[in-house]
Amino acid sequence: MPRRWAALHARAFAKGGAWSLSDFRDLLQTRNMVICDHPHGFAALRIVAPEAEILTIAIAPEMQRQGHGRALLDAVLAQARSARVEDIFLEVDSSNHAARALYAAAGFDETGLRKNYYRYNNGGYGDAILLAKTLFY
Ligand SMILES: CC(C)(COP(=O)(O)OP(=O)(O)OC[C@H]1O[C@@H](n2cnc3c(N)ncnc32)[C@H](O)[C@@H]1OP(=O)(O)O)[C@@H](O)C(=O)NCCC(=O)NCCS
Repeated sequence: MPRRWAALHARAFAKGGAWSLSDFRDLLQTRNMVICDHPHGFAALRIVAPEAEILTIAIAPEMQRQGHGRALLDAVLAQARSARVEDIFLEVDSSNHAARALYAAAGFDETGLRKNYYRYNNGGYGDAILLAKTLFY
């Protein structure tokens, strides 16, 4: 699995920020880590109830815009609910309009900004938007 995740991540984050195979192997050793697998992607979630953080979510580029990202995010939220998570957080690149639209549609609010948080492969920088969603039961 780590090989598949690393290969998919490299394609989904071609601009920068992809995790290496050893990053994924380390991730699997991390406590409280949950990987939500999907036929065309995956998400990594750290759950420390009552909070959780979505560390990454990716769908293979050729399979995007077909509803898989939304289905995967729904699975992540269901997993969080089953762990009694109340607040879920993540960061997104401010220029990532696809992901921002996906999260907005899922009810995430933009709660903060980290300037120059991402470093791209071309040497440029991008801002991170902080997102949060409260889960109700
Ligand atoms: C973000 C990502 C997971 C979305 O997956 P997806 O399978 O393409 O998303 P879906 O087809 O389920 O689309 C769900 C909603 O997201 C938004 N969206 C998805 N792709 C979009 C695009 N290219 N432009 C604008 N909005 C987009 C839309 O609101 C869409 O709803 P709609 O189809 O009813 O308009 C996917 O684009 C991806 O893997 N990107 C690369 C990795 C990444 O940026 N991950 C997020 C890091 S925080």
